[in-house]
Amino acid sequence: MFGKRDGLKFQQPAQVEPALVVTHLAVVPQQPEPAAAAAKEEKRKPAPDKLALYYDLKKEIFGALLEAIDVTQLSIMEPQEARHEIRSIAGDILAAKKAVISAATQDEIVEEICNDVLGYGPLEPLLARDDIADIMVNGSDPIYIEVGGRMIQTDIHFRDSSHLLNVCQRIVSQVGRRVDESSPMCDARLPDGSRVNVIVPPLALNGPTLTIRRFKKDKLRLDQLVQFGSITPEGAELLKIIGRVRCNILISGGTGSGKTTLLNCLTGYVDPEERIITCEDSAELQLQQPHVVRLETRPPNVEGIGEITMRQLVKNCLRMRPERIIVGEVRGPEAFDLLQAMNTGHDGSMGTLHANTPREALSRLESMITMGGFTLPTKTIREMAVSSIDIIVQAARLRDGSRRITHITEVIGLEGEVPILQDLFVYEMSGEDEKGNIIGRHRSTGVLRPAFWDRARYYGEEKRLAAALEAAQDRSL
Ligand SMILES: Nc1ncnc2c1ncn2[C@@H]1O[C@H](COP(=O)(O)OP(=O)(O)OP(=O)(O)O)[C@@H](O)[C@H]1O
Ligand SMILES: [Mg+2]
Repeated sequence: MFGKRDGLKFQQPAQVEPALVVTHLAVVPQQPEPAAAAAKEEKRKPAPDKLALYYDLKKEIFGALLEAIDVTQLSIMEPQEARHEIRSIAGDILAAKKAVISAATQDEIVEEICNDVLGYGPLEPLLARDDIADIMVNGSDPIYIEVGGRMIQTDIHFRDSSHLLNVCQRIVSQVGRRVDESSPMCDARLPDGSRVNVIVPPLALNGPTLTIRRFKKDKLRLDQLVQFGSITPEGAELLKIIGRVRCNILISGGTGSGKTTLLNCLTGYVDPEERIITCEDSAELQLQQPHVVRLETRPPNVEGIGEITMRQLVKNCLRMRPERIIVGEVRGPEAFDLLQAMNTGHDGSMGTLHANTPREALSRLESMITMGGFTLPTKTIREMAVSSIDIIVQAARLRDGSRRITHITEVIGLEGEVPILQDLFVYEMSGEDEKGNIIGRHRSTGVLRPAFWDRARYYGEEKRLAAALEAAQDRSL
């Protein structure tokens, strides 16, 4: 249709790196059905001895294709149409070359070329699956994925480092960045909202390293967490009440333990009339309320200027008349501003942070404030923390890959300089079955009058709270 084809007598070879030619293409990858994608993935495995031959042929066709097509035209076409066009030209090239390959291999090569030119190369079949939580690419080694809480090595890999680097450039170019020696780290986002981190040599010793946290359009809900056994129905009820009665909440957990998911669940119980402001590094939360303002930090640009930090965002949002402030992840001096906000009439504010226990969450908060350059005495910081935070919810990814809410803990006060915490709900591990799955149970600690009882009464939720705590205790007997 638009090709520079002339009976397949191709013009001069284009002296350009294939993927770089199309970096300006903001093409949303085609999303085949997951099952079909998985089947295709199976199909993508040429036998090792054929590997070199396969890649040589692909390279040859790629080169010929670039001579045959008009990339500028391609960039303004609809993705489906562009794919169709590439398929038809590549088919012609293969026919002209009289290459002796099976129809399946031919399809495979053409599909990979489409993915290389228009999408994210070998990542495409993985991006099309919605059961994958993370995709991890370490240079040209096989790609790892996380499925159902477990890390799995796939047999998909990039051809070489430059192939991977091209795809990385394409991803980061969408946020106006480049990665190279002088700027070797970058956070970006895919068009579907997935969070991406790229780090390249000389910092990454194994070659370009790409990590993708898939964005789930349908975030898990609290009732699904109950189904998965992450929490009991009584524990979930307790969390709903905690969210509803405007407790200030800190969600603590390790990397990928489900903090953001849990935060998103808790926001589901916020009154629709409240004005909520969310501050995130990479917008992941999906609040259902009508009155939500979403803010996102900005990394520095290529010249290293223009950065807007989380602290600046949180400070700014205090001037935006928030009723609740939600910080996606607290990792620096914004901890101080969040505590202040919690202390000054923005009840029901929430944030997540990386820590392994509720007590450690408090000390992490304290060190973030100290390292942020605030010269406050330790006791003052602790007083501020314990008077601001009502509840710490601890999430964990256990060694069998399952995710559990391991603590719902109240922050009561200070005794001397030591924060007093009271667990309401804990997860106790008792062993492991023959398949390596953790055996354990959620248990109420028997507290029937938590410190936020008056708050619950103020919101007319004390009966519901009493019922939830009693039911939790009955189940624990
Ligand atoms: N209770 C759960 N059961 C099963 N899967 C879960 C559960 N909670 C979260 N997940 C899945 O685990 C993945 C990581 O979740 P999430 O992004 O909430 O973790 P996180 O702790 O915020 O991670 P990070 O530290 O990278 O910000 C997501 O794909 C999510 O759907
Ligand atoms: Mg998170």
